[in-house]
Amino acid sequence: MRLGDLLSTFEGSAPLAAQDQERLDRLYAHLCQQTEMFLGYPVAKDFDCRSVARFLELPLNNIGDPFAPSTYQVDTREFEREVVEFAARLLRAEGDTWWGYVTNGGSEGNLYGLYLARELYPQGIVYFSQATHYSVSKNMHLLGMRHIMIRAQKSGEIDYEDLRATLRIHRDVTPIIFANIGTTMTEGKDDIAKIRQIFAELAISQSYIHSDAALCGFIAPFLAPRPAFDFADGADSISISGHKFIGSPIPCGIVLALKHHVDRIARSITYIGNLDTTITGSRNGLTPLILWLAIKRYGEGGFRARVAHSLEVAEYACCRLREIGIEAWRNPNAITVVFASPGPALCQKWQLASAKGQSHLVVMPNISREQIESFIADLVKDGGAL
Ligand SMILES: Cc1ncc(COP(=O)(O)O)c(C=O)c1O
Repeated sequence: MRLGDLLSTFEGSAPLAAQDQERLDRLYAHLCQQTEMFLGYPVAKDFDCRSVARFLELPLNNIGDPFAPSTYQVDTREFEREVVEFAARLLRAEGDTWWGYVTNGGSEGNLYGLYLARELYPQGIVYFSQATHYSVSKNMHLLGMRHIMIRAQKSGEIDYEDLRATLRIHRDVTPIIFANIGTTMTEGKDDIAKIRQIFAELAISQSYIHSDAALCGFIAPFLAPRPAFDFADGADSISISGHKFIGSPIPCGIVLALKHHVDRIARSITYIGNLDTTITGSRNGLTPLILWLAIKRYGEGGFRARVAHSLEVAEYACCRLREIGIEAWRNPNAITVVFASPGPALCQKWQLASAKGQSHLVVMPNISREQIESFIADLVKDGGAL
């Protein structure tokens, strides 16, 4: 049974007027169809949230800090703590040196990381590559942070020479690195071990590194070689999207940070009997349950298998595109396949995100070889690339 059918069985709700019900039904049918044709965005569709649907009857709110007691008790903060703890272990945070919460998405986690960095180093300069997600410029603007854009390589990874040269000029100012662990278009990953090496060469002793692992937070831990991006590699904070690789019907995410950084900004709020450590006050109580379900369903072994599946199908897609004469490539160990954009009708049909004549497929765990074949058949019919 799909969630829509389940919700319509709830007792006690006033019936909708017939035309309103019809509109909802039409929308539902349209969205089901649109979901079938979904290859261009990194959104896993194979979630199963039936066991938490009944929580929609409750005014859930995880207001405030998930680790501090609150007077608002219609919450799921106990489950949220388990989700954050699972992520902290996966991202190699030591003992109880970490803190985190379930966010509204990767962008909020990135805002949080930058906010912490600004509170610690108000005069710091943020360095980020030109392949960084568009929301980050807005975040830096909101926070009023000084920032410098660094060149990106074709892969999407930051250009270390440009970073080194730029840091050398500003050695007197604390650098705040906004590292991409999977860029939006090509899934390029910045190597924070290399960045730390540059700090060492330039005798920079104070710094902050935020990892934007929106897509790859639950992928990179299972790759060999393991990319340098997490707490053991020297990150100060990490943001992950929940609705991307993990999968959720509601946008969400997880942000983690070193606890001693967060302690510097915590303020006690009497009204909620809690700490004001999160970006928003009221917070979603359903998404922690959805992420908790995914973690229980897959466990580390299941996530590892999902990664292996996506990598295998991504390689298959890349080879098939080349076989039909379309220029296609992917970064090592990436689930994103980049290729010359097809015509607008196919971009629209398969919802392909496209920029500068390039499109990408993001091979999420629910994508099968059969779906790739239907896409390939459409491309062949359409006459291939532009
Ligand atoms: C690299 C990167 N960072 C951040 C985000 C923003 O994440 P969200 O959509 O979860 O806010 C995205 C989204 O596509 C992304 O690709």
